[in-house]
Amino acid sequence: MNSTAPWTAARLRALKGREKIVSLTAYDFATARLVDESGIHLVLVGDSLGEAVLGYANTLPVTMLDMLHHTAAVARAVKNALVVADMPFMSYQISVSHALANAGRLLKVGAKAVKLEGGVVRVPTVQALVENGIPVLGHIGLTPQSVHEFGGYKVQGRTATAAEELLRDARALEAAGVFALVVEGVPAELGGRITAAVSVPTIGIGAGPQCDGQVLVIHDLLGLGGDWKPKFVKRYAELGTAAKAAIAEYKREVAEGKFPGPEHCY
Ligand code: KIV
Repeated sequence: MNSTAPWTAARLRALKGREKIVSLTAYDFATARLVDESGIHLVLVGDSLGEAVLGYANTLPVTMLDMLHHTAAVARAVKNALVVADMPFMSYQISVSHALANAGRLLKVGAKAVKLEGGVVRVPTVQALVENGIPVLGHIGLTPQSVHEFGGYKVQGRTATAAEELLRDARALEAAGVFALVVEGVPAELGGRITAAVSVPTIGIGAGPQCDGQVLVIHDLLGLGGDWKPKFVKRYAELGTAAKAAIAEYKREVAEGKFPGPEHCY
């Protein structure tokens, strides 16, 4: 298989057991280009957009218009990765036909697949999307759109009953046709059990190393998300600190008349 061909949902599904899937979020053209040029398999235009970029307290206020705007920008940048757009809160819960219409809009602006949250309850929606040619990435565990039901961002699947329910969700979504499954915020041991239970890849976030791949919010990985750092995040850079230092230096040089210098003048 040509490894430089763009990643498709089917090709990513086939990586299970062969190669770890590496995924990051991106919300704009410049970041998406960096992520794609770094060889990341799957670029997720997550509804974490709400917190990371738009300054909301959670993902619930994110609209279809927000997702369409940012998905289009990301899709213009990405040449190789699979662009997956999150379906925002209340864009797929109302009815299957509402979900189909909204998923279709995301594909029309450049997404190659959509992600939606929930397990057994989403089976009819996932089936309808897949039957109509729209690849679906499932999302179970600590699903952020259910923050109020959970009473906060709490690790899920800690009891035997809750773990069994998540295993049921994973198998139901697999049968409904998802090409992969995001598993978020569960004990590492359960992440491994879910991974072993399904034939589609699991992409973990706070779900341990046994998942078939990992995803992070790019702002967390790059240190752009402020001081908040959950346990599952590893910061690979401190770009927020570096950016503040650069901005402070620019401010000082302008104040001191050092910028612009002769080399910056026409
Ligand atoms: O919105 C998002 O970025 C996500 C990932 C954290 C999985 O759903």
